[in-house]
Amino acid sequence: MTLSDLAELLPPDAVPSSRPRPSPGRKLGVFDDNRARPIHRWYPFVEGYSDELVAECLDEAGTKDIAVLDPFGGSGTTALAASFRGHDSMFCEVNPYLAWVADVKVNVTRDAAQQDVDSLRHLAERIERDGVATGGSNHPLVHADQRRGFFPQGVVRQIVGLLELVDAEFEGSQRELARLAVATSLIPTSNMIRRTDLRKRRDGDPVPLPFTQTVARQLRMIHEDVLRAGSALVGHATRVAGDARQLVSTPTPVNLVVTSPPYLNGTNYCRNTKLELLALSLIEEEQDLATLRTDSITAGINNVSRRRSEPDLIDAVEETAAQLDEVAYDQRIPRLVRLYFADMRLVFRAVRAQVAPGTRFALDIGDSRFAGVHVPTPALLAEVASGEGWDLGSTRVLRTRRSYDGTPLEQVLLNFTSVES
Ligand SMILES: C[S@@+](CC[C@H](N)C(=O)[O-])C[C@H]1O[C@@H](n2cnc3c(N)ncnc32)[C@H](O)[C@@H]1O
Repeated sequence: MTLSDLAELLPPDAVPSSRPRPSPGRKLGVFDDNRARPIHRWYPFVEGYSDELVAECLDEAGTKDIAVLDPFGGSGTTALAASFRGHDSMFCEVNPYLAWVADVKVNVTRDAAQQDVDSLRHLAERIERDGVATGGSNHPLVHADQRRGFFPQGVVRQIVGLLELVDAEFEGSQRELARLAVATSLIPTSNMIRRTDLRKRRDGDPVPLPFTQTVARQLRMIHEDVLRAGSALVGHATRVAGDARQLVSTPTPVNLVVTSPPYLNGTNYCRNTKLELLALSLIEEEQDLATLRTDSITAGINNVSRRRSEPDLIDAVEETAAQLDEVAYDQRIPRLVRLYFADMRLVFRAVRAQVAPGTRFALDIGDSRFAGVHVPTPALLAEVASGEGWDLGSTRVLRTRRSYDGTPLEQVLLNFTSVES
């Protein structure tokens, strides 16, 4: 069993990092350290970055009234880090499950800290003692499980039963926190496993955890963190758009932007959360993922929709895209590269429209390699951004990685400043 297998079996704070001790710079770009931080640890999000990265940007902003925008909010690391440090935040997030997780971790938990949340601990005790009654069969997760065998025998009806109990007996913030405990227990108790993307467990993978004990553990962790850290939450988080390309206004002026967009050829954020989306009835069936995919930045080969019209060509990107036209084994690859930068250009434009000149935009991103062709994503993004009113100041290397063929790749923090446009 590897350390990353262990990470799935044990509470996040009980698990040492699965990677060698990173240098201080390297830790900033990964979620690892958040696994031991209250509230962050409720939903370990592999693609997330560290609370510390956001903290550094907030510190460097050097003003008391910071309103930070994260156009790719994910699990809400930026919003939570800002709230802990007394700042309001805004975010865009296309995936309704991730947007909800961010809202629960920041806004719901801040409210819950003013109340008696012992009902969460009592629920943990009760289900450990009495088990969970099975729920109804007419639920999107049950239908999907019948077709695809996502869960071991009997588990899906326990999940639905517990969600029904929570809906019937809980209300307000305690209800949302209890639902989060259930949602974050789904993958560990399923026949699925996250290995970059969500896939079926194979021989040698850890076996699914027992549902009741897993939810009880989550409920206790959430209860403990609300008590010890909930009152430290100050700032409010507001979702200002689903699709960042469609951002048109913010309730307050933005004076700092911190984000990490999808990586080119990275994970499929919507498909990876399909169990949670189905369980919380945020989608009715797996096919509904297609709509979420259309609203997402085109970042993966399976996202290259034939329905999308041809993107406007961007000169800076064409050199790389044309090389890929020549050598790529799959013509979706050059199209993916063109679509990715065209989508990111729209995000730079939309965000620029919300900020005054002189605003910092810190963007965490890495480069990629396809069919032997290096795609210098950070450099190309910098070119694209410069056409949209963003000047690249410094570039900081956060960590180095390797592509499948062993080529060294870098994860960097690009620091832009908005200029008069
Ligand atoms: C690298 S993750 C962000 C992780 C985040 N920094 C954290 O720590 O949780 C990128 C996010 O962008 C979201 N996304 C993709 N396309 C989007 C779009 N068009 N608008 C807004 N969010 C989008 C994905 O769903 C994913 O959650």
